[in-house]
Amino acid sequence: MKNLGQEILMVGTGYVGLVTAVGLAELGHTVACNDIDPRRIEDLQNGIPPFLEPGVPELLRKGIDARRLSFSQNLAEAYSGQRYVCVAVQTPIGMDGKTDLSAVHTAVRGIARVVDRPTLVVIKSTVPVDVFSTLSMLPEVIESGHLTFIACPEFLAEGTAMWDFFHPRRTIVGSDNEEYSREIAGLFHGLGGSYVITDAKTAQLIKYSANTFLATRVAFINEISQICDQYSIDAHDVVTALTMDPRVGNTYLNPSIGFGGPCLPKDLAALIQCSTDRGVTTPLLSGVATQNIAHLQYRIDEMVRSLGDGRKVAVLGLSFKPDTDDVRNSFSLTIIQHLLDAGITVHAMDPHAIRAAARFLEHPELRYFDNVLAAAAGTDLQIFFTPWSQFGSLDLDRLAAVVARPNIYDCMRSISQTKAVEAGFAYHGVGQVNGGRTKPTFEVSDNPALH
Ligand code: UGA
Repeated sequence: MKNLGQEILMVGTGYVGLVTAVGLAELGHTVACNDIDPRRIEDLQNGIPPFLEPGVPELLRKGIDARRLSFSQNLAEAYSGQRYVCVAVQTPIGMDGKTDLSAVHTAVRGIARVVDRPTLVVIKSTVPVDVFSTLSMLPEVIESGHLTFIACPEFLAEGTAMWDFFHPRRTIVGSDNEEYSREIAGLFHGLGGSYVITDAKTAQLIKYSANTFLATRVAFINEISQICDQYSIDAHDVVTALTMDPRVGNTYLNPSIGFGGPCLPKDLAALIQCSTDRGVTTPLLSGVATQNIAHLQYRIDEMVRSLGDGRKVAVLGLSFKPDTDDVRNSFSLTIIQHLLDAGITVHAMDPHAIRAAARFLEHPELRYFDNVLAAAAGTDLQIFFTPWSQFGSLDLDRLAAVVARPNIYDCMRSISQTKAVEAGFAYHGVGQVNGGRTKPTFEVSDNPALH
C-alpha cells in the first residue's frame, strides 16, 4: 500500500531517528523532529548533524530547505496532529543488566500527553520482545486511549546508514492490526526489498536475531582465526573458500579483534536477558558474548607481546568502525585503557572521533592527534585499529622514518603486509600469517587445468 506524502513526528534524533527522518523527508513526507537536547536541536535547525554519517548533511539541508524537516525541543510544539509518531530513543543496558527502557517510557508518556486523536506509535528503538504489553499499561497511555503501538525495527549500520535506508533488504512491521501495519509499511513505499507484516513480538525478535546472528558470525570467525594462528594458516584464505558456499553467505566474516559498537554487544546482552526472563538458557548466545571478550584479551596479549619492552604506542583509529565518529563500545578505547593501566604512553589518532573519545578517556599519558605521522612519531608500536580508507594510502616509508621502532599491529587489514614489510616494518595482522606466507600459495581460479 502506497502511503506517501504524510505528516510524521519523530521523537529522538540519534543515529536511527535522524537518518530515518531525513530519509522519510527525502521520500516526500513532512517530518517534525523532537529531541530533549537543546544544543542538538539548535544545530539541527542550522543544518548541522550531531554525528558523522555520510549523506546525512546533504539530505538534512535539502529537507530543511524544502520545509519537509523541522526540529523542536518541545514535543507539544512539534505535534500538529500527526497520525504517525516514531520513537527512536536509546535503549542501553542498565546497571542491572536489563534493557533500560526509561527513555522509551518518557517518550511514550510524552506522546500520550500531547496527542488528541488516534495515533500510530511506531517503535524504531530496539526493545525487548514483549515490551508493548508494558507500554500499553503506562497510566498516560491508558488515560489517552489514542495510542496504538507498531514495531518497525531498523537495520541501518553506522557509516552506511543513509544508503541502508534507501536500500533495505527487508522492512519489518509488527502489530496486532494488519491494516495499521500495512499503513506503516506504505510510508516506506518504493524503497525495494521485502516487506514483512507480522505481530510485534515476532518483529522485535527478528531484530534481535539479526544482530545476534551477525555477532555469532564474527565470534565464529574470530575463533577460527585463533586456530589459524596456531597452524600458521591465513584466516582470510579460509574465509575466501568458506564464503564460496552460498549457504554460508559471503559477508560479515572478517576476522577482527571482536565486535563492538553500540548495537551488537547490547542486543546480544538484551536477548540473553529476554530469554532468561522466560527460563530459556542460551549457551550459544552466552558463548558468543564470552568468546568476544576472551578474543579481545587474546588479541591485546598479542599486542603487548609485539610491544616488548617498548613504552610508547600509537593507536590509529578510535571509532568502532570507519565512516562514523561513534566510539561507544569501541575496542580501540579498551585497548588504550589497557595500555595506560600498564604504564604505557599512548598517542591516539583519528580523523573524526577525537572529540567523542576525549569525553570517555582523559589521562596524563594519553595524547590525541588527527594526523598519523604526528601520532606515530617516536612510538615503539603502531596499532591500526579502525580501517579508515586513508590508512590504505599511507606513505609507509615516511611512517617508518618517524617511528622509534617500525612495528605495526593491524587489527582489520588497514595496511598491506607486503608493503609494510618492504618499508621495513615488523608486521602483525589479525587473521594473517605473520612473518610471511609459507608455500604453497592460496590460489583461486575457475579451471586449475588451465594453469
Ligand atoms: C549493526 C548491524 O549491522 C545493523 O544491521 C543494525 O541495524 C545495527 O547494528 C543496529 O542495531 O543499530 P553497526 O553496529 O552500526 O550495525 O555496525 P556493524 O557494521 O554491524 O559492525 C559491528 C561490529 O562488528 C564492529 O565492531 C565491526 O568491526 C565488527 N565486525 C563486523 C567484525 O568484526 N567482522 C565483520 O565481519 C563484521
